[in-house]
Amino acid sequence: MMRTHMCGELRPENIGEIVTLTGWVNRRREHGEHLAFVDIRDHSGITQLVVDNAVDVRNEYVIKVTGKVEARTPDTVKVGMATGEIELKECQVEVLSEALPPPFPMDDRAEDVDEQVRLKHRYLDLRRERMQRNLRIRSRVNAAVRSAMIRQDFVEVETPMLMPSTPEGAREFLVPSRQRPGNFYALPQSPQLYKQLLMVGGLDRYFQVARCLRDEDLRADRQYEFMQLDMEMSFVEVDDVLNAVEVAVLDAAEEISGIRPGPIQRITWHEAMERFGSDKPDLRFGMELVELTAIFSSTEFKAFSTAAAIKGIRVEGGAAGYGRNKLDGLTDEAKSFGAKGMVWLKVNSDGSFDSPVAKFISATETAALIDAFGATEGDLLLLIADDWDTTVGVLGELRNRIGRPPVSQGPFEYVWVVDFPLFVGRDGATGRPKPGHHAFCHPHLDDLDRLESDPMSVRAWAYDLVLNGWELGSGSIRIHDPALQRRVFELLGIDEEEADRRFGFFLEPFKYGAPPHGGFAFGLERLGAILAGEENIREVIAFPKPQSGIDPLTGAPSEVDEAQLAELGIRLLPPAT
Ligand code: AMO
Repeated sequence: MMRTHMCGELRPENIGEIVTLTGWVNRRREHGEHLAFVDIRDHSGITQLVVDNAVDVRNEYVIKVTGKVEARTPDTVKVGMATGEIELKECQVEVLSEALPPPFPMDDRAEDVDEQVRLKHRYLDLRRERMQRNLRIRSRVNAAVRSAMIRQDFVEVETPMLMPSTPEGAREFLVPSRQRPGNFYALPQSPQLYKQLLMVGGLDRYFQVARCLRDEDLRADRQYEFMQLDMEMSFVEVDDVLNAVEVAVLDAAEEISGIRPGPIQRITWHEAMERFGSDKPDLRFGMELVELTAIFSSTEFKAFSTAAAIKGIRVEGGAAGYGRNKLDGLTDEAKSFGAKGMVWLKVNSDGSFDSPVAKFISATETAALIDAFGATEGDLLLLIADDWDTTVGVLGELRNRIGRPPVSQGPFEYVWVVDFPLFVGRDGATGRPKPGHHAFCHPHLDDLDRLESDPMSVRAWAYDLVLNGWELGSGSIRIHDPALQRRVFELLGIDEEEADRRFGFFLEPFKYGAPPHGGFAFGLERLGAILAGEENIREVIAFPKPQSGIDPLTGAPSEVDEAQLAELGIRLLPPAT
């Protein structure tokens, strides 16, 4: 190595030693007529150098310095800085690379730099402490989950990036084939198909740190490309999969935070919806949904008398903070989430309500509401009356809107949500049920006899892992029996001919002895972001895309020349107007 120590490493024990450091000039300050203080930085920290001011080094120059470690005078000791008690003197400085003045400072002041600028100069942004720390967290998470899987006898297998186009949910990225013009590969949305074939192939336990690609709108928790810890196992039931995944997730959490979270609690999808109005409930705060339908069984109030489900949330002490304007805003939001309206009630000291609809609520109903909510003076109660889906969904949104702390704020609240419904909603055109996850999820064995007679009530052996209101991952036990698969396809309106045409290459292998199997995948950026205390997965990715999808650093996506297109048999249409 060109250096003897890292820039964050020297301590009073090193006083008197001659050392060599390498790194970037973080800052230079002139000191008197002949001397300058130069801070040298690498990812481990900063050391102060005392140099002859004739030495021409400027911010972000790359230097190598050999000097003597000396104690700082007591008045110049920098408390809170790891190397704050020492400095390097008698320095011989060698410039390894000169640098243009950087477009933004490398220290914390760069926090408010425009994201486009940060991403355009990502190689500089990466020098900052925040990004150094985040990428190192990602690396440690990867190492922890990989080792947890290997320890549990999972075999790491790479699956292809070039695959046929398959209907997996999101839009695919396509890659034109040069050898067969007019034909396309698709980039994998996940290794789903291949990992199931690995089970047919007898691998028994597979995992992969897998790159996945989806052409979907970018958000705080979504990128075009992302990494999954993807796994699949044979001869298992739901609990076996959950337990194996849990080891990997808890290992990673412990590696980063130093604390191993307790076993992850499990709740059913139905309970999650009933209590939190969400299939990715944030358990860090209360404000649970309260069931009120029975209270209004003989109500005079029109809006309530016809509703299938009436529920509400209590904003403790919320009456004062929510004036008329704010409540109107909240009502509009409730409507934007699908509600017909929202009833608000402020609790008075005598147990009555201050509300535009107070006159429609009887004394008995008022008393029952106060009791159901455990409400006291100054509370704000928000009620939604609608079909069950809308009622719980809207209240879930309102609950998050009002009570949810930033994702990163902690503490870490993991929860397994199990028993998702096999189908959600019906196709508008055909009236057929739509798969909740995908068409290959195994129905819950206890509900199998209702598959045809009451499909919407059938649960799936499908489950999600949720952390602080973010979906970390999902998975299911898969159908391995071709006859059961045919029954599910039939419900979806897919006949044998269509199934063969669309999924033949996937279904055929199952005729050759498929073991019962199931699996899971979780997003490594999502886990990494939350563990790093970040709100956006871009902060834990070295070269992410901004929301526009256009990379300011490389300019991708970019035009290609005519000859390249011709070779692929592609002619462009004029841009859509
Ligand atoms: P699913 O589609 O739910 O399941 O994806 C699993 C997890 O991958 C992460 N993820 C993403 N992360 C960043 N950007 C994205 N665009 C993005 N999309 C998904 C999330 C998500 O929970 N094959 C199934 C898993 C299985 O059934 O085994 C699958 O991919 O953290």
